Amino acid sequence: MTLGRIALARIPATRGTIHRLFSTTLSSSSTNRTSPPLSRHMSMKSDNLVSKLTSSGLLKTQGLIDGKWVDAHDGDTIKVLNPATGEVVANVPCMGQSETNDAISSAYDAFRSWSKLTASERSQRLRKWYDLLISHKEELGQLITLEQGKPLKEAMGEVIYGASFIEFYAEEAKRVYGDIIPSTLGDRRLFVLKQPVGVVGAITPWNFPLAMITRKVGPALACGCTVIVKPSELTPLTALAAAELALQAGIPPGVLNVVMGKASDIGDALLASPEVRKITFTGSTAVGKKLMAGAAGTVKRLSLELGGNAPCIVFDDADLDVAVKGSLAAKFRNSGQTCVCANRIIVQEGIYDKFADAFSKAVQSMQVGDGFSEGVMQGPLINEAAVQKVESFVEDAIFKGAKVLLGGKRHSLGMTFYEPTVISDVTEAMLLSREEVFGPVAPLLRFKTEEEAILMANNTKAGLAAYIFTNNVQRSWRVTEALEYGLVGVNEGLISTEVAPFGGLKQSGLGREGSKYGMDEYLEMKYVCLGDMNRK
Ligand code: SIN
Repeated sequence: MTLGRIALARIPATRGTIHRLFSTTLSSSSTNRTSPPLSRHMSMKSDNLVSKLTSSGLLKTQGLIDGKWVDAHDGDTIKVLNPATGEVVANVPCMGQSETNDAISSAYDAFRSWSKLTASERSQRLRKWYDLLISHKEELGQLITLEQGKPLKEAMGEVIYGASFIEFYAEEAKRVYGDIIPSTLGDRRLFVLKQPVGVVGAITPWNFPLAMITRKVGPALACGCTVIVKPSELTPLTALAAAELALQAGIPPGVLNVVMGKASDIGDALLASPEVRKITFTGSTAVGKKLMAGAAGTVKRLSLELGGNAPCIVFDDADLDVAVKGSLAAKFRNSGQTCVCANRIIVQEGIYDKFADAFSKAVQSMQVGDGFSEGVMQGPLINEAAVQKVESFVEDAIFKGAKVLLGGKRHSLGMTFYEPTVISDVTEAMLLSREEVFGPVAPLLRFKTEEEAILMANNTKAGLAAYIFTNNVQRSWRVTEALEYGLVGVNEGLISTEVAPFGGLKQSGLGREGSKYGMDEYLEMKYVCLGDMNRK
């Protein structure tokens, strides 16, 4: 099974030769694409930042295999770009199958000793890693903003969110209990042992360059597994910095490896190896399906956190302020680039006009710009392909009769900035309702009855997150139970936390991450029957 040329991240990377200059790749083909007037200024600022990060030792530009920082075997590299300016932040190795096989061997060897440590020994190292992540919150946040674009405050929030998984699983490591089963025969004793799965391949996306890694690596390491992380080729720097801190925390060589580059080659090597016992992936449903098929060859375990199409239902009886605040947070977090972002705001007819008006006002007040500028709430989209996707969805909606209430085009800042957008009169026939837009566009749909809202909400192959806004307690229970989704926010738009299980139904994936349930994804259950108890 080959993954073909589809990148394992949500959107393909830009590759090229190594130059520390302005890249023209992001600004060559768009409509309103003058380089932002502030880019020369930002260039100096990010130059200073890059030097500061380099001297802190956290700007790593090599892969990590068996505790050593290494280049690609053929010396090939990829550029990491700042999406706000198009500048090249760094060049990292463009690795493939052979480096991945090295990483697999190193993880396989390290598994023997790491899995034999006591839970408390693993816990102490994870706790140390957590402390280091928190004490380097600022540098990690800066790296996230540099390579991913989200506003610095939001990036620091991601560091705290990401680190929380390491703290949580440092504690949970000590709670991997087995079981004793009452025997049916007097001379036997029956037990269940929980043991680590083994070597894990973790393939992670660009939208949360830290948190999607820690959410996987935390429980894996806590259980005694070892890991090969393949971060998105768009955002590898945060992953490398986190891995450096893991080494400093005393996590032994080979326990955590990082390879990046040719996504399909790396994915194929992980899938082909019988030594890799599990793949955990966050990304598109299309790639998730390929991984699922590819894992069949060696019957690997899988956790898949795939695309969503989150409905956000606002009932007539909702508190308007709560609904506006919650929908805004659910829609515009990370410029709309999360798989739990509200993708369809479904509003009851009695409150529709009032909601559309108040929501548009709130959206209008959001400042767009470089994530390092004070007060900015919306950064750029990750790359040109992302903007083109948003544009095509908006064009489709307008063509089919929707009305743009706000935004609806590229931002005058140029590059990959897009105006926060509100679109009314959206119908289920439009792309905006059918697929994940993954950008700052809020489509408003209208409904009459509760039954209709539930039908509309469930009319999708996805089933990750859903939100409802209502002041009626009975309705909140009824609708929550009827929604075919793995996560439901009631009168709340931000629901992700390390202590709760995160994952989807239907084609949004398999398994759960975070919480005590997230541990089970990395544990095998072994039944033991001890016979002949009465022998003297
Ligand atoms: C995601 O977008 O994949 C994760 C979002 C979250 O953890 O809240």
